[in-house]
Amino acid sequence: MSRLTPSTPVGVLGAGAMGTGIAQVAATKGHPVVVVDAAAEALVRSREAIERGLRREVEKKRLDEARAAEILGRVHFAGRSGAGGMDGFRECGLVIEAIVERLEAKRESFAALERAVSHECTLATNTSSLSISSIAAACERPERVLGVHFFNPATVMPLVEIIPGVASAADVVEQTRALVDGWGKTTVVAADTPGFIVNRVARPFYGESLHMLEEGIADAPMIDWAMREIGGFRMGPFELMDFIGHDVNFAVTKSVFEGLFYDPRYRPSLIQQRLVEAGRLGRKTGRGFYDYRAGVQTPSPVADRALGQALVDRVVAMLINEAADAVRLGIATPRDVDLAMTKGVNYPRGLLAWADELGVAEVLRRLVALQEEYGEDRYRPSPLLRRMAREGGRFF
Ligand code: NAI
Repeated sequence: MSRLTPSTPVGVLGAGAMGTGIAQVAATKGHPVVVVDAAAEALVRSREAIERGLRREVEKKRLDEARAAEILGRVHFAGRSGAGGMDGFRECGLVIEAIVERLEAKRESFAALERAVSHECTLATNTSSLSISSIAAACERPERVLGVHFFNPATVMPLVEIIPGVASAADVVEQTRALVDGWGKTTVVAADTPGFIVNRVARPFYGESLHMLEEGIADAPMIDWAMREIGGFRMGPFELMDFIGHDVNFAVTKSVFEGLFYDPRYRPSLIQQRLVEAGRLGRKTGRGFYDYRAGVQTPSPVADRALGQALVDRVVAMLINEAADAVRLGIATPRDVDLAMTKGVNYPRGLLAWADELGVAEVLRRLVALQEEYGEDRYRPSPLLRRMAREGGRFF
């Protein structure tokens, strides 16, 4: 591959929420950018969104008018036309795909992309749940393909997960990572496994909270209050699921559960499935766990600190267990797991640093108690925590 520099033309396939944000980031850093979408209206909306985004930057005095115009001038929008519709990418050194989350659509696009771009061009996918290796296998040169997973909104969220597939070449991974670092992002490297780092390690935040709700241990306002006020999380799990949309959150949970061969630790919740079936998707439909028809209100539960602490202890132990298992399975280093959760989903601190602070033995004690109480495999402690507790080890 040729060297990726700040003047390398960058292509973005898919001009939706993510593609638009990624295009703005690359153009702001000086790259000529080509944005391609199958739908003409999507290109119009994308251009308007970038204009709006840049105008906001000017209002906040982070950019002057001339620079904003220069950045917008670097973005070229093109429909899918010509051979496979990818002609616009001919000069690109890197193309990032952000089309619909469907494996067949992505594989088809990658095969078409490869026919259009130069031999040196790196091909990246922004998929949040599909296998990078499977997308890459649609290409004749899968070594040039990797995952580059931005978080929404891409212009604001600092984290980017870099995911090598089975066939990705080491220099492709290193150069792409260096380029994205140069865009001012925080990159972490994740193995090509379901949910990568963030979408896997975060599962108990929702799953364990739903479990406690299902059992009637506490209601949604109480759990949300505890996670915010005692746990220090920016939003409680139920408010956050309402915000993300239950359709989206449930789909991610299901895809991680299926991707991990139905490991009970990731089992989705019936309560959430029923909300999806009822069309109560959260804020966007006016109702989810809470009612938004009269605007967004912060619920005020009867605050019970002792119960709140117990709820937080349980969710945090499950989150740490997941984070530790990600390290044990070589999905990421302890540093990258902690960076991913603080920079990708704003956790108040890294889960493994939290484990060190609580003491690994204490975390293990909580998990063993849960496993004894429920007799469920869902609560099995990571063998890494057992080993560390025995040896008095720390993550950092
Ligand atoms: P979106 O629905 O906003 O945009 C997708 C765009 O792709 C649409 O404009 C559509 O017209 C276009 N498109 C669909 N099929 C196409 C094709 N074959 N060729 C050309 N254009 C095509 O989707 P969004 O939210 O931007 O997601 C895009 C990708 O990013 C997905 O893989 C998603 O999983 C991933 N992602 C989404 C995040 C989010 O929070 N929305 C976060 C991180 C990753």
